[in-house]
This record gives sequence, structure tokens and C-alpha cells, in this order.
Amino acid sequence: MIGSTGLYSSQMTRSPSPSHALASWRTEFPTFERTTYLNSCSLGALSRASRRRVERFLDQWEMRGAANWYDTWWGDLDALRQRYAALVGAAPAEIALHPSVSSILGVVASALDTRIRRKVVTTALDFPTLPYQWLPRDVELVVLESPDGISVPLEMFEAAVDDRTALVATSHVYFCSGAIQDIGGLGSIAERRGALSLIDGYQGVGQLPVDVRAAGVDFYCSGGLKWLLGGTGVTFLYARADTTHALRPESTGWFAHREQFAFDPREFTPHEDARRFEAGTPPLLPVVAQLGGLDVLEAVGAEAIRRVTAALTEDLIAGAQAIGRTPTMATTAAERSAIVMLPSADPAAEVARLASAGFITDARPGHVRVSPYFYNIADDHRAMLEVLDHG
Ligand SMILES: Cc1ncc(COP(=O)(O)O)c(C=O)c1O
Repeated sequence: MIGSTGLYSSQMTRSPSPSHALASWRTEFPTFERTTYLNSCSLGALSRASRRRVERFLDQWEMRGAANWYDTWWGDLDALRQRYAALVGAAPAEIALHPSVSSILGVVASALDTRIRRKVVTTALDFPTLPYQWLPRDVELVVLESPDGISVPLEMFEAAVDDRTALVATSHVYFCSGAIQDIGGLGSIAERRGALSLIDGYQGVGQLPVDVRAAGVDFYCSGGLKWLLGGTGVTFLYARADTTHALRPESTGWFAHREQFAFDPREFTPHEDARRFEAGTPPLLPVVAQLGGLDVLEAVGAEAIRRVTAALTEDLIAGAQAIGRTPTMATTAAERSAIVMLPSADPAAEVARLASAGFITDARPGHVRVSPYFYNIADDHRAMLEVLDHG
């Protein structure tokens, strides 16, 4: 889990603001000098910490080129595996780095033996790259329909997962409703039937505290793009050591090789640890941008983030209800994350109108999607709602 280490915080720019406990972090994100950014579930805002690390990386690249690999960049990769591990309560040896969630899913799919257990269970609410991994493969893909378009009850998984199921693959937080799934419940349903569980946590960790061991899931993946403030091109896979150690991906590369620098084309011995799920050279610019994002997140702390974003979310919901835009959302606050879906007859037009007034949001079918983070304050969404209401 993210700790409140205060690491690097002395380098960061902060200013006092009474609106909530974390609002002083806002000045770490220069976008707020020009925009009201409310779209972290698409792309987290750029921090000064990430910019500093990227600029330092560019200097290193220019001055010493590949010489940086051995004394600096290799260490950056190790540091990132360690820090991602700490973020989700895993051991560093259980983390593999990748450029996208899709590439992670492809490697995991290539490691599963689906000849006897032929079933993979996912849902219609998952980000479609999840089912796309399975559609071209020779497996029985079960896509559970959501009764309300918001979430999928555990009982539906319970009924669908059986002793022919290889994998239960679904989201921690649904990208199109913001509903939080009970990943502990999902992990135990899979375990009881002898199946593996894989949680797409791209909309989870960062905005929510995560402890993969407590949840008992076998795989959990996420990355920099959204709530982890690392931008594009850097993701990670948690592979639980005791339940996945026997898996050997068929889709692989030299970063998965234990003797990577032996350059022997006749022999392939995968790493014992989760690096056997890696493939090629990790993209270094995103890696250092992500280290900057983690500098901030570790200093802020996951529990504090959840407290603040839960309050902002409920305030946004109340404001939306007051102007007749009751969000499409889960029933209880505990199941709701900071992804708020405002019904809209023409989301693209409304998002464009908001953008021209300086509010950055996102369009999804039938909805304007708004996602406050710890650097937002209630005035952000209140002002945004006024523009929506009076447009
Ligand atoms: C839940 C979820 N999973 C996956 C993705 C995308 O994954 P990839 O890294 O393959 O682009 C997104 C959005 O970008 C998402 O919201």
C-alpha cells in the first residue's frame, strides 16, 4: 500500500488552502494555472515531480547515452518494480513491467493452459481490451451481462465460475460506471473453483488503497496513465508468487530471460520471479515520469486520497442531483469511486463546451464523465456544474 513516507516532498511546491486536507498539493500540478482539470480517470495530471525526472532523464540520455543503463536506468527499473510492489502490498519479485495493460493480458493469456479448463469469465462492463485478449483464442469466453449497467453482482460470478474455468478476469473499478467491485470476493470465488483471478486495476489503485494479498487475487495489473500519475506507456503486473510460479508465458522476450546478457539463441531459461512475464526493453521516459508520479502519491498516501476523493465525489453527486443530472452510479457511497457519470443527451458537445470554458472532462456513451482527484477542490466541479446547467 502507499505509505505516507514524505519522500521527496521537500522538493515539491505546495501552497496552503483550507478546502480539504490535500488541496495544498494542487500547485504541484501546473495545469491548474490554466485549466480546471477533472479527467484523471482518462489521464492523470502532469506533476512537477514527473517533469523534473523526465528532464533529468533527457540530460542523461544526451550526455552519456547508453552508459546510463548500468549505473542509473537499470536501477530505475528495479526501483519502479519495488515501488509498484509497495503500492499494492506485494513483494518486488511479484512485479513485472510492461508498456500497456493489453500487452500484460496477452502475456498472461499465453501462459494459461486452457486445454482442459477452457472457460474464461469476464463481464460486459470491463474495459474491452480484457475480452479482446480472449476472443481470437480457442477458449469459451463468458461475458457476464450487468443487470443495471453499473456493476455485476458476485452471485453472477459465483454461478458462472466452475471447475472448467481457467480464469476470472474483471475490473477493480468499472471504467464506465465507477462502481467498485469486491475483489476479495472475486478472488475467493475463483480460488474455491480452482481457477485463477486477474483484476484489471487501471481504474483502482491510486484512487483506492489496494492490498493484493488481503484480496487474495492471483493477478492484478495497472499502470501510470490515470490515477498513478505516470502518463502513457508504463504498466505493471502483480503475479502472486505461490499460485502463479508454475506459469511459463509463450509470448515472451529477452527481459524474461534469467541470463539475459548471455545472448544465447539456443536456450531460454525464464526468470524465477515475475520478470518471466516481461518481454522487451521497458520504455524509459514513461518509467521516469511514473517515478515522479509515485514521489507524489507516496507522500500523499492512499488512505488520505480515498478520504478526500470520496468526499469530493459525494459533493459532486449532490450538486449534479440539484441540477437534475442524477449520476448513473452504484447504490452506496462505499461502492462508488471518483468516476462520476453525468447523463447527457450529447456528451461530445457538452464536453467540448466545458473545454471551451476551461473544464477538462470526458465523453462516454450517454454521459459526461467527471473524475475528481486529490488535487481538485469542490469549487472545481461546482463551477463545472454551473456551466453545464446554464449552457
Ligand atoms: C480499466 C481499463 N483497462 C485498460 C485500459 C487500457 O489499457 P491499455 O494499457 O492496454 O491501453 C483502460 C483505459 O485506457 C481502462 O480504463
